[in-house]
Amino acid sequence: MPVSLKEPVSVQLVLGTQWGDEGKGKVVDLIGAYVDIVARYQGGPNAGHTVEFDGETFILHHIPSGILRPHTKCYVGNGVVINPESMMAEITTLEEKGIKVVGRLSISQCAHLILPYHLLVDKATEKGEARRQIGTTGRGIGPAYADKMNRVGIRVGDLLHEDTLRENVSQNIRYKNTVLEKVYGLSRIDEKDVWESLAVFRDKISACITDVTWRLHQDMQEKRKILLEGAQGMLLDIDFGTYPFVTSSNTTVGGVCTGLGMHPKSIDRVIGVIKAYTTRVGNGPFPTELTGDLGEKVREMGGEYGATTGRPRRCGWFDGMIARYAAMVNGLDSLAVTKLDVLDGLEEIKLCTGYRHPELGELDHFPTDGYLLEEVEPVYETMPGWQEPLKDIRSVDRLPRKAKDYLDRMEEIVGVPIGAVSVGAGRDQVIWV
Ligand code: GDP
Ligand code: IMO
Ligand code: MG
Repeated sequence: MPVSLKEPVSVQLVLGTQWGDEGKGKVVDLIGAYVDIVARYQGGPNAGHTVEFDGETFILHHIPSGILRPHTKCYVGNGVVINPESMMAEITTLEEKGIKVVGRLSISQCAHLILPYHLLVDKATEKGEARRQIGTTGRGIGPAYADKMNRVGIRVGDLLHEDTLRENVSQNIRYKNTVLEKVYGLSRIDEKDVWESLAVFRDKISACITDVTWRLHQDMQEKRKILLEGAQGMLLDIDFGTYPFVTSSNTTVGGVCTGLGMHPKSIDRVIGVIKAYTTRVGNGPFPTELTGDLGEKVREMGGEYGATTGRPRRCGWFDGMIARYAAMVNGLDSLAVTKLDVLDGLEEIKLCTGYRHPELGELDHFPTDGYLLEEVEPVYETMPGWQEPLKDIRSVDRLPRKAKDYLDRMEEIVGVPIGAVSVGAGRDQVIWV
């Protein structure tokens, strides 16, 4: 297997190893230069993937970040949930900036739609008992996936069958209106508004609706290079994350199989994107969180505000327990470390190597029991920080000794080789290892 991430294998996967916002958009954009196809397999407009180049900033929510490389084709898999209005807005914004979307974008006919009632239920649920508030993005993600599992969801392919679509949407709205009114005390939604936005969406994207799974398998046969783009991150996975403070999809490697119809044997390389420290938006346990001035300082230095909601992100030290868990569950082949430059100028940097529990002692693996996770104390190692700015460095041998030592220690703790280090938001700000 080639070690350099610039040398593409047939199918590679880029996913988040922490609580999302690791810089997946930037890494997909970088590797996107060397592939033919970029495909998303889960999540929806809760994702905010940022790519910066030529003085422009793009934030992608549904559409794969690969769209910013003009030679690629981009696929949205069956595992993704799509808000028609916000996907339309996303396409329009890209097209206004001169990026061709229709003609390059394929959308699975099996992807589910997020409709206005999903957003209302998401927001209303979040107003319930404080203890149970997840701190969602309010984008209707949980309710849309719940309808999918409950087999009452509306799929992209349904847009092409007007009669049954009208019947099914009407039935759903009648039921949801009762819930909105009787359970949440909200006003009813107007079926006409839903229809209008669905019709506009259908007219725009009907040519993009495809059997994405079949197409991907054709692409593999025809030896095209494929990059799979994950949304969110390891600990937001519905099964393996810090439940219930998670999202509603499988963000880990299995999501590729269910969200695109790719089999496990088709994935040649798994790249874990990992920030040089840790952040989290929303509620739930966070063992290495820095709550004082230092947390504030890292937030300001790293510009840690949500790309989707603008919420301040909680910041903390690098957590090796999480990284090892992500390596284990996803079978990581390589790490792409991002935002190392954010740690410039700190006198000392801590790395968490393990957790100690008041009764159970030192834990030998990441606890998926949320109650236990609230009670652990991180075990830290302290390393001296570097004082030189990293933003203009482009090779490992030009890195300050202390930055190199920090990366070496991260690599040792996780047990996975580092393939790339990002030292700024720009496309050129990368060190290929
Ligand atoms: P994603 O959701 O994983 O794609 O990450 P986000 O886009 O939500 O958040 C990452 C933020 O960090 C974005 O604002 C990026 O432009 C920025 N970013 C990415 N890599 C680097 C880096 O190496 N250094 C700095 N300073 N910013 C970075
Ligand atoms: P990207 O792809 C960071 C978090 C929310 C909340 C929880 C559930 O940009 O990394 P949801 O709206 O999904 O029901 O919210 O998940 N969350 C994210 N945090 N990055 C994301 O996406 C996220 N998508 C959801 O803040 O805690
Ligand atoms: Mg993000």
